[in-house]
Amino acid sequence: MKLRTLFCYVLMCAPTLVAGQGKATPARTAGAAEIPHLQKQGTATQLIVDGKPFLVLGGELSNSSGTSPEYMKPLWPKLVDGKLNTVLAGVSWNQIEPREGKFDFSALDGIIRDARIHNLRLALLWFGSWKNSWSSYAPDWVKKDFERFPRVQIAGGKSIEVLSTFSDANRDADAHAFAALLGHVKAIDSQQRTVIMIQVENEIGLPSEPKEYRDRSPIATKAYEGPVPKELMDFLQQHKDTLVPELGEVWKAAGSKASGTWEQVFGPGTAAAEIFMGWNYARYVGRVVDAGKAEYPLPMYMNAYTHGFAKAGEPIRNSGTPMPDLMDVWRAGAPRVDLLALDVYGSDFASFCADYNRSGNPLFIPETRGLAPYGLEARVLYAFGRHDAIGVSLMGVERPAATPDPILTDVFGLIGQLAPLIAKHQGDGSMSAVLLDPKGPPQKISVGNYTMEAAPQGPPRGAPPSENFSAAIFIAAGPDEYYAAGTGVSVKFSTNPPGPESVGIGTVEEGYFENGRWVPSRQLAGDETGQGQNLSLRTHPVDRRPDRFAGIQRFTLYRYR
Ligand code: DGJ
Repeated sequence: MKLRTLFCYVLMCAPTLVAGQGKATPARTAGAAEIPHLQKQGTATQLIVDGKPFLVLGGELSNSSGTSPEYMKPLWPKLVDGKLNTVLAGVSWNQIEPREGKFDFSALDGIIRDARIHNLRLALLWFGSWKNSWSSYAPDWVKKDFERFPRVQIAGGKSIEVLSTFSDANRDADAHAFAALLGHVKAIDSQQRTVIMIQVENEIGLPSEPKEYRDRSPIATKAYEGPVPKELMDFLQQHKDTLVPELGEVWKAAGSKASGTWEQVFGPGTAAAEIFMGWNYARYVGRVVDAGKAEYPLPMYMNAYTHGFAKAGEPIRNSGTPMPDLMDVWRAGAPRVDLLALDVYGSDFASFCADYNRSGNPLFIPETRGLAPYGLEARVLYAFGRHDAIGVSLMGVERPAATPDPILTDVFGLIGQLAPLIAKHQGDGSMSAVLLDPKGPPQKISVGNYTMEAAPQGPPRGAPPSENFSAAIFIAAGPDEYYAAGTGVSVKFSTNPPGPESVGIGTVEEGYFENGRWVPSRQLAGDETGQGQNLSLRTHPVDRRPDRFAGIQRFTLYRYR
């Protein structure tokens, strides 16, 4: 394999010089760029790429797109036009290891080569043992040999097409393939660092249909009726004061025992079965991650699908999935998983961001869409501004990228401009954001020396009312200087902390950033600032949909008596 990898490597470099038809995409850095990694900045965690904070402005390809460089060829330029900087692409276990021990990375090599040619980074999604709960990406030689590679069993002993977490053979086969993948990526990409993150498996947890809270195979039942492993009990003891409340309460409700069976320690309900599955998935994945990081320690994360607001034991949730209330179980079982990421479509965007961005877990959203009532702008502004997100990515990005709708270009275009400022202000309280229900009350947030009272603006004259939430980001660039962007928000100011002085709006400029340099266009006053009484982050002047933003505003504030 080494010779094949070397051959691939030479091939990889050659086209880069050629494909650009004279306009060679420069090899990113002379020496090997620093390995992408996570780094704390105040209360925030940042992804560092080429030694600098990197905000992922991402698009996740549909599940099968990343398996064919040919299929992707016409799409790359559209993704570039969409102002993405990162593409999330699935890597199929079945495709890279069609025969046991025989690896074929040719499709992946094409995807990495072409992403590099288009100056895009990649997050690779390992579709290994599980994808959306099921084992549809396991190679045929695994699928067919169900004795060697056993499945989960439901009540009555029936096997379902889900690889069991209780099989070392399943785990080791996945870990071996994952290690081969990371070894190959290192061999062909450790100079350019096109690949910056790895997602391990995809939305795992027992399927929600047929509904089972745990694997009911004999080996699983024996483990479930046995003692909770010492490692998990030790972790609970050591972290008893910082456990996420949901888990702490379940343990406490059963008497905060130091040992016992799963139901003795976590109570007789379905929560015990979920925690049991969470632990066993985590142990399995932990070994897969260790094998991959031994080859190439890129940042690695898990993603989970947030079924509405399901809590442990509720029927629609995938038992064992890395949801926030199982965060500690996943930390104990798979300590080298760097973060738990959030796939959020419909439901309560703000609460889920808060649920995931706690207990030191940074917010990363690999999958979302601009589904009402939260437009893509509102989601992106809020995730970066309020939760110091590492990144936000649009699922099935080929579709919006291929349509004339400028939404992607606008949203990522704007955040791309603000990125250096956002990265600078993450984690120190000098940045925040609001997400406003169009029918809801104003919200107050304090950023730096001032408090903003932000209220949703009605639709522009002649535009239809919108159910969509509006959002705004505020960045304190100096004691009295701010940048803001938003989708239909009016803002009044007071001092922070509150005091006898009143606050006036000084100079307001609308403008944009060019290579990090502020370029003012209109100076706003009069009607555009409510005669100086409020900041008006109006909607897009041309595309009058209420939740489209106009641009960035820079403004100064002052105090008076
Ligand atoms: C969430 C999964 O993670 C994605 O791979 C995809 O299946 C979407 N659901 C639905 O398109």
